[in-house]
Amino acid sequence: MVKLIGFKKVNTAIFISGTGSNLKSLIKFSLLKKSPIKISLIVSSNIKAKGLKYAKSHKIKKKTYNFKNTSFSEKILLKDLEINKINLICLAGFMKILSKSFIKKFNGKILNIHPSLLPKYKGLKTHERVLKNNEKYSGCTVHYVNSQLDAGKIVMQKKVKVSKKENPQSLKEKILKQEHQIYPKAISKVLTSL
Ligand code: GRF
Repeated sequence: MVKLIGFKKVNTAIFISGTGSNLKSLIKFSLLKKSPIKISLIVSSNIKAKGLKYAKSHKIKKKTYNFKNTSFSEKILLKDLEINKINLICLAGFMKILSKSFIKKFNGKILNIHPSLLPKYKGLKTHERVLKNNEKYSGCTVHYVNSQLDAGKIVMQKKVKVSKKENPQSLKEKILKQEHQIYPKAISKVLTSL
């Protein structure tokens, strides 16, 4: 668990692999005076991740790790997290599975956002599966990361209605809008409820 000391913002790293729309919303949130986080590092598993452009535009340190050799990449990553005094990790569309030992080292300090109402629809292709099953509702979940995929303790969820005309893309967009709202709220909840 991370502790907020006085009003000092918690040094945070955001891990991405793609578009980075959650990263964008978290950067906006971090710049608010009342925000409990300072984004000190952006970690990417993909050199072509579109989200890396936000590192440049907001002058945030960024680094890409290829994760072909997980233990080697994680060793360097851990060193970089230590150098940057990172106390909270927020996964935001990060497509690599972190090792058990990495998660153990950051126990209680890693959050993830997932585009479904967990524990339903863990893993990939959530919107396709939701539509195939004719679900009336879907949504998004912010949860702690443990060693099992999308199974850590839930911090916050937001439900959305699946409309009759929905397709995977429209559902993705509808849920992303909610993700951008709840991730900052969930971070505040985690950091201030102590
Ligand atoms: C989001 O839907 C998030 O829930 C999932 O990956 C997607 C990332 O989108 N884990 P973005 O890169 O933040 O736009």
